[in-house]
Amino acid sequence: MDKFILHGGRKLSGTIFIGGSKNGTLPVMAAALLAKGVTTLLNVPHLMDIRTMSNVLRVIGAQVYGKGSTFKIDASRCNHFEAPYDLVKTMRASFYALGPLVARFHRARVSLPGGCAWGPRPVDLHIKGLAALGADIRTEYGYVEASTKGRLPGGSFEFDTVSVGATANLLMASVLAKGKSRLINTAQEPEIAFLIRFLRKMGACIRETRDGLEITGVRELRPVRMTVIPDRIEAGTFMAAACLAGGRITLKNCPVEDLACAVDVFEKAGARIHASKDSLVLEGPGTVRPLELSTAPYPGFPTDLQAQIMAVLALGSGTSIITDTVYSDRFTHVPELNRLGADITLQNNTAVIRGVRELRGAQVMATDLRASAALLIAGLKAEGKTEISRVYHIDRGYEKIEEKFRGIGARIERIKDESLF
Ligand code: EPU
Repeated sequence: MDKFILHGGRKLSGTIFIGGSKNGTLPVMAAALLAKGVTTLLNVPHLMDIRTMSNVLRVIGAQVYGKGSTFKIDASRCNHFEAPYDLVKTMRASFYALGPLVARFHRARVSLPGGCAWGPRPVDLHIKGLAALGADIRTEYGYVEASTKGRLPGGSFEFDTVSVGATANLLMASVLAKGKSRLINTAQEPEIAFLIRFLRKMGACIRETRDGLEITGVRELRPVRMTVIPDRIEAGTFMAAACLAGGRITLKNCPVEDLACAVDVFEKAGARIHASKDSLVLEGPGTVRPLELSTAPYPGFPTDLQAQIMAVLALGSGTSIITDTVYSDRFTHVPELNRLGADITLQNNTAVIRGVRELRGAQVMATDLRASAALLIAGLKAEGKTEISRVYHIDRGYEKIEEKFRGIGARIERIKDESLF
């Protein structure tokens, strides 16, 4: 397993080009299953999770070719309506196959995602929602099996918790239904808005209502060509790094509008930010101000930036409080940040961060994607050498992260697995 060696303490300055969104790409790759023919996606990031989703589509019988950041998915000859355990266990988003398979082929067998590095992450809303849309659905031997006689009838479903994944799955299931569907209390994340634009371009009939979405099923959808939105979490991660390390970074191709809440939080922490339509300049503060914040579904502060802002506040000039209201258990970065000298304690889903004067390099372990990003951010500020093991977690969701950080002055190198022995 590769590891990163960092030497902290340098200011970060320069320009970074933000890549395509991981969480924007994954659902539209699955949505390509809804139409015969070749879907073309531009600005696809090179990430492990994208490779896993490509393999899910290949198992189903789609042909997937990637050249540079352009992906072509030909879903003309799908013949195996299953997403197997081996793939779904490595990436929950493989579960996105469920909705499109039921919609177009009227049957699906998708493995339950199984355990996760943090928290319980159930799929009950996907299952209950699909049943409400008219699918026969049961869970047996670790697999969810869903079928319909002909087209899915369509129906109404109200989410009791806002779920990005279940909103995407039910949307993809309902676009080819016989009748109308109403989805109430749907997620409004930019990645969902992108999926809606994508499905509409395919020919889907989706109307935004006061409390959610109304979908009128159509008989057929056509394949489309579309550019993936930039990754707001990648942008937020670099903002956090510059906020802590100091210096001045410019983010190009930055989804500024989607980051409104994060911009507000970084400004409250003391950063100076100038943003235009798709570019953002952040100047780190001399001293990070303490904050009290909670994560929430969009447009709230994203849980996917919770670990990164915690790394920043570890060096705040007072005590900060962070509550994660989306995932009560997403705190595996806390003991690792403490190894670097942070003073963070947990009370249920709330972290109390007592700002310290300095962080010191240490050996730490990446435990999940965003936790690893927090360790990178802290390591780039810490005095001396930090070694982060298990960086495959970071490779799931950040493209060329060490190159991008080196480009703004960080000292970071990847030690390849083979050279470890
Ligand atoms: N939930 C349920 N039942 C369900 C589904 C979700 O109770 O059937 C609960 C979850 O336990 C959680 C809340 O609903 O408390 C929100 O979960 P959601 O379904 O929105 O999460 P997700 O779709 O599995 C996506 C992102 C995550 C991101 C969350 C929240 C993708 C591929 N994943 O996950 O991204 O944290 O939304 O915004 O889009 C990441 O990129 O690091 C990552 C984990």
